[in-house]
Amino acid sequence: MRSSYGRALLSCGVACLCIRVSRSQLTLDRTYCDKVQFGSDLQWECRDAKTLTYGQNNTYAWEVTQEAAQDQAYDMMLTVTTSSGDAAVGIFPPGTSTAPILASASGTGKDVIFFPRSQLTAGTFFVVVAGGAYSTSYKMSFDTLQDPRKSRPHESAALGQLLLDCCAGSACQMLTSQYAELQDNDPTTNPDYCSIVPNVCQEEGHLTQLGLSGMGLSCPFPAAQLTALTYLEALDLSSNSLTGNISLVAAASQSLQSLMSLSLNGNALSGPLPSTCALVQDSMAALDMSVNYISGSIPSCYGQSSTLRKLHLDANDLEGPFPAFSENSIIMSITASNQELNGTVPDLTNLVNLTIFNLEGNEMTGLLPGLPAALWTLDLSGNQMTGELPDAYGNLPQIRTLDLSGNGFSGSFPASEIPACSASQSLAVMSLSPHLSSGSKSLLVGLQTSNGWTI
Ligand SMILES: *[C@@H]1O[C@H](CO)[C@@H](O)[C@H](O)[C@H]1NC(C)=O
Ligand SMILES: *[C@@H]1O[C@H](CO)[C@@H](O)[C@H](O)[C@H]1NC(C)=O
Ligand SMILES: *[C@@H]1O[C@H](CO)[C@@H](O)[C@H](O)[C@H]1NC(C)=O
Ligand SMILES: *[C@@H]1O[C@H](CO)[C@@H](O)[C@H](O)[C@H]1NC(C)=O
Repeated sequence: MRSSYGRALLSCGVACLCIRVSRSQLTLDRTYCDKVQFGSDLQWECRDAKTLTYGQNNTYAWEVTQEAAQDQAYDMMLTVTTSSGDAAVGIFPPGTSTAPILASASGTGKDVIFFPRSQLTAGTFFVVVAGGAYSTSYKMSFDTLQDPRKSRPHESAALGQLLLDCCAGSACQMLTSQYAELQDNDPTTNPDYCSIVPNVCQEEGHLTQLGLSGMGLSCPFPAAQLTALTYLEALDLSSNSLTGNISLVAAASQSLQSLMSLSLNGNALSGPLPSTCALVQDSMAALDMSVNYISGSIPSCYGQSSTLRKLHLDANDLEGPFPAFSENSIIMSITASNQELNGTVPDLTNLVNLTIFNLEGNEMTGLLPGLPAALWTLDLSGNQMTGELPDAYGNLPQIRTLDLSGNGFSGSFPASEIPACSASQSLAVMSLSPHLSSGSKSLLVGLQTSNGWTI
């Protein structure tokens, strides 16, 4: 690439030292970035020397020259891969300060952002990598792509048909007003889907990431069109009005063997989850089916995936027992609140990566489960659980939110545990009401403390 097009803010020795910056000040850090040249494209590979914890971030800077912006010289592509924990990545174009223009938090361990050349502006772009709930190590690659990626004709045609089928009347106005190609009702006339944020294409123009969240899609689940996109790794169809039987979605997902992240949150899909478990097979890492009308029970194979990191099933019509997760699970976040799940909560002690567990508003009975040390949020409020608070609940090193209210717990709060609890600097919200008593205090409602359980 022409050197006048852009530069990382770095000082080069034998290896290049990438500079980590804070907004007000440039600071050198031991974050090493190696320069790799791929044909005409330039790539930086950065590996963080430290691990990030929740709330921490590393910020990188990339300077786009006037000339590059004028020539729309390249697309930018960022890939953050985590080897442990979870990270989210965001990009701030020059002049933006608070919310990033593009952000990715796929929950799959791989976050990709493609920033199209049409939006390139001169100045300093900041890239922020933010850590998840516990120790996160990651590798980031930053590419400038000189050769445009154009979406494949058959994939474009499939998407053209999808938008035609799902955007009748005034639906999808955001897309149709922006792309004139979509206004002539011809599925073969299309914008370049590779350049529409937040989509991502691989080198040959196959879509690997497709984002149609909140686009107003209103149609039966467009299985035939989506299965044409065989390279898809991430598919976001959340907040639309897709209807149909979830078993059709599961069948379609079998044609998408690389799919790692699927969000169907906030649609109108129905029917029982098929016991074949197609949705959690292959490489599925993040599955969000919350806020639909899915019924029946959760098949036990949902607990047996060795690739699943996030499972969100909130606010459906699910009933029956909650499955136990196997010991080789790397699951980090499980939520299935507000429906009719029943039975006992399985023991969670062996789920070493679990940080969020939420079965609020179900019909769970029995005793409180054993918990893993990484747990950050536990919400079992509004169930029918009984028994006493296990002593171990006073010694959860990472816990931030503990909500056990609205159950039938008895006995008194284990006072002996309070000193141990106050060692937990992080506890933000604890709610144990209404039945659990602590000495003379009979109610603890939404107790807020910054450095422990002071009663
Ligand atoms: C990154 O961390 C700094 C220091 O803690 C904080 O002030 C800033 O808001 C964070 N930035 C983002 C985008 O999270
Ligand atoms: C799960 O936790 C183990 C032990 O802490 C860690 O080595 C591993 O990297 C974690 N896996 C993920 C995907 O974060
Ligand atoms: C969905 O499909 C399954 C399997 O084919 C079937 O058993 C079920 O009755 C269907 N449900 C609805 C709501 O159509
Ligand atoms: C759970 O609910 C189902 C009905 O949805 C019922 O048949 C079953 O007995 C219940 N199980 C428990 C343990 O309460």
